[in-house]
Amino acid sequence: MKVVIGADHGGFELKEFLKNNFEYTDISWIDVGTYSAESCDYPLIADKVAETILNKQADIGVLICGSGIGISIAANRHKGIRAALLYSDEIARLSKEHNNANVAVFGARTQSRDDVVKYLT
Ligand code: RB5
Repeated sequence: MKVVIGADHGGFELKEFLKNNFEYTDISWIDVGTYSAESCDYPLIADKVAETILNKQADIGVLICGSGIGISIAANRHKGIRAALLYSDEIARLSKEHNNANVAVFGARTQSRDDVVKYLT
């Protein structure tokens, strides 16, 4: 499965952690940045993830910013993108079963790494 992943500076470290954590699975990551903890604009990252999915270069996406809110709003401006901010087991399940979400969003400053891994699994 091809998964496009993107984060702003607030989510950079969590993005790197996730890529390593799922290294030996069937996930093939497409990393669209950001590539350092230097400040950047989260809408640009949301656009890159959305375009990669809409161009069919990836099956689904993961987006991360500090809270998960700004990058969700930016991603959901794209027709065909259904980005869901996942914050519980039930919400993670419902985002697939009821909303057919194609982007999972996380807040690196508001969620634990363990929870994020759980919601993605
Ligand atoms: C960046 O500092 C922060 O505003 C951003 O990561 C995000 O939380 C916005 O919603």
